[in-house]
Amino acid sequence: MDANLPHFWETRYQNNQFPWDLGGPTPVFARLAAQGQLLPGAMMVLGAGRGHDARLFARHGFAVTAVDFATAAITAMQTLADPDYPLEIVQSDFFALPVTFNGRYQYVLDYTSFCAIQPHRRGEYADLVARLLQPGGQFVTLAFPIGTRAGGPPFTVQPDAIIDLFATHGFALQHRESPPDSVPERRPYEELLILAK
Ligand SMILES: C[S@@+](CC[C@H](N)C(=O)[O-])C[C@H]1O[C@@H](n2cnc3c(N)ncnc32)[C@H](O)[C@@H]1O
Repeated sequence: MDANLPHFWETRYQNNQFPWDLGGPTPVFARLAAQGQLLPGAMMVLGAGRGHDARLFARHGFAVTAVDFATAAITAMQTLADPDYPLEIVQSDFFALPVTFNGRYQYVLDYTSFCAIQPHRRGEYADLVARLLQPGGQFVTLAFPIGTRAGGPPFTVQPDAIIDLFATHGFALQHRESPPDSVPERRPYEELLILAK
């Protein structure tokens, strides 16, 4: 089955096979939000899944747009939404987002959406992030899973390659760390990168 198609992901959600889902906000992002390392602004969450991180940032005052193409993910986001901290929930293939989204965002957030797409589409993904961001906006990615294993999803990533790819789209590295607060089983396999346009 083709990970480029919503049906692949929809089947995973329908069969309760979504091991990527932490069941709550990603601790690394919770720290960034709580410590004010990212100040509230407009944020696009690509491949938002069931929306834990989207809701996290909404609770911290960000104006969040959460995009996913799987109906089960959209339904979960709608069901779990906190009326006090509303989100803009959009069902779309993120590669097909209309130009009306261009330049709207101070942040684009990724966790396990970059590794979900076929590697040959990574340049297209960098184009997408560049067009969604305002000048000076930031791509915040918890790059996972670091490695060189063939096949996927998840398709393995290399942080240096992500930095190089985004450099060719006009981005500069602002912050890089091996987060101490990654979930323990993922800690050796992920790095936080913040790249500015
Ligand atoms: C591995 S899951 C990660 C979900 C969420 N970020 C998380 O950490 O729990 C990847 C998600 O990206 C979505 N996705 C993959 N390709 C997509 C695309 N081209 N457009 C929109 N959503 C996509 C899938 O439906 C799935 O919900």
